[in-house]
Amino acid sequence: MSTPCPRVIAIDGPAASGKSTLGSELASRFGYDFLDTGMLYRAVTLAAIEQGVPPDDAACAEFVRHIRIEIRRGNPSRVLVNGVDVSDRLREPQVEEQVSLYSALPSVRAALLPLQREFAAAGRAILAGRDIGTVVLPDAPAKIFLHASTEARAARRSLQANSWGVVQDSAGAARDILRRDSIDSSREVAPLQPAPDAIVIDTTERPFDAVLALALEALGCAAG
Ligand code: CDP
Repeated sequence: MSTPCPRVIAIDGPAASGKSTLGSELASRFGYDFLDTGMLYRAVTLAAIEQGVPPDDAACAEFVRHIRIEIRRGNPSRVLVNGVDVSDRLREPQVEEQVSLYSALPSVRAALLPLQREFAAAGRAILAGRDIGTVVLPDAPAKIFLHASTEARAARRSLQANSWGVVQDSAGAARDILRRDSIDSSREVAPLQPAPDAIVIDTTERPFDAVLALALEALGCAAG
């Protein structure tokens, strides 16, 4: 007899490591809501760029007090800024370029923390990001950390980018990924790192089905 699935699942890992694909698949099997928390940082970045607010902590502290970020629950969940759904704009090159600068700011992280905790508290949920298992939900009953080689992640990201309507070859994707990984891992607040109790899965040589099988085995539960 298998045990029930954990009510909340945290998935962390670097850019293009497969978090959203795994999170969304688990969410659809279990009937959970899925939030890619990177969308929240991207939404703040998009809004700040459009308002001409630089990636400076004092300026952003003031800025985030005056914008309303909302999450529309689902699989995947969507993100609204001041009532406007911006989910389809979050992969624009200007956001890609600057998101790690804005997300390193303590004021931005502090503003987005309660939203993520509320999302997790309000129902069965899977959250993917960089600091879910370490900072947002340190007591999450299930934590998965995905990683993969830069080459594998760059190849995946350049394929994904095409489907988002952005032209990016593997070399360009690798440069972008390495730059963001470096900022995300070295920032002072909530750096990218596996929680000590996370199950680590290397997705470099594994097809998605194999990653899914390992995750399901680690979660040790049946759907429903
Ligand atoms: O899709 P990809 O993994 O490339 O990126 P993402 O998950 O959309 O995250 C975009 C950026 O947001 C990351 O590079 C981080 O700078 C930031 N982020 C973060 O700081 N903390 C999170 N929990 C999620 C994303």
